[in-house]
Amino acid sequence: MKLKDQVAIVTGAARGIGREICLALADEGAHIAGVDLLADALAETQRLVEAKGVQMMTCEANVADRASVERMRDAVVEKFGRIDILVNNAGITRDTLMLSMTEEQWDAVIQVNLRGVFICSRVVAETMLRARYGRIINMASVSGLMGNPGQANYAASKAGVVGFTKSIAKELAKRNILCNAVAPGFIATDMTAVLPDKVKDTVRELIPARRFGEASEVASVVQFLAGPDAAYVTGQVISVDGGLNM
Ligand SMILES: NC(=O)c1ccc[n+]([C@@H]2O[C@H](COP(=O)([O-])OP(=O)(O)OC[C@H]3O[C@@H](n4cnc5c(N)ncnc54)[C@H](O)[C@@H]3O)[C@@H](O)[C@H]2O)c1
Repeated sequence: MKLKDQVAIVTGAARGIGREICLALADEGAHIAGVDLLADALAETQRLVEAKGVQMMTCEANVADRASVERMRDAVVEKFGRIDILVNNAGITRDTLMLSMTEEQWDAVIQVNLRGVFICSRVVAETMLRARYGRIINMASVSGLMGNPGQANYAASKAGVVGFTKSIAKELAKRNILCNAVAPGFIATDMTAVLPDKVKDTVRELIPARRFGEASEVASVVQFLAGPDAAYVTGQVISVDGGLNM
């Protein structure tokens, strides 16, 4: 139990990669605070996490709204008394080619994927600084490293997450707060389920492993970065993509 009695906030915890991250951290003994907009699915994550014998609290909050995030942070501290780990996993897509992209589509993605990561990190780091301990793990994407047609907004947000992660890693390392990013390739979740079969087949051909990844295969890397085995790792971007970006 490498995270026994630690406390992890996971955003986007209701489904997909976020749910698997909650379960992977719970496997190591961490208590979980799950943040999402989808109350019913979040309750299901809570049921699965608590079946592992740890506690989970749920917070319906928008990661891009500072007041909501501050309330969430205060509630977590009140319940558990500490925050050791923050996983900024919530994310959205609004895919379309740049020439047909609206400002609303651009703003929506930047708001959640980039502003949300800043807001949550900013608010939770205050608590971590006082404890002189913390792990911040941000969900980037292969799109942010390689670019992807139809995802100019999303790729820009995820490239932004990479720059943000490296910058705060430099700022916070001396306070014993480690910050890393994980860059998944194509993972089988609701987010990629909407892709047309033709696109999925084309993408699969480009992946050296010739398959989409599982959410649990991303979660295990987050589990590593959150734990004691990664104590000297900061400012890194770890690809989990079957070799797509190399
Ligand atoms: N699935 C992939 O192939 C893939 C690849 C690379 C990166 N990612 C990234 O991994 C993360 C998780 O992706 P997923 O595939 O599990 O997606 P998903 O759509 O299944 O889950 C995302 C979760 O985030 C929540 N969320 C969205 N906006 C929110 C907000 N404003 N506040 C709080 N919660 C919010 C959603 O309700 C949802 O539960 C995202 O950041 C995504 O960009 C996914």
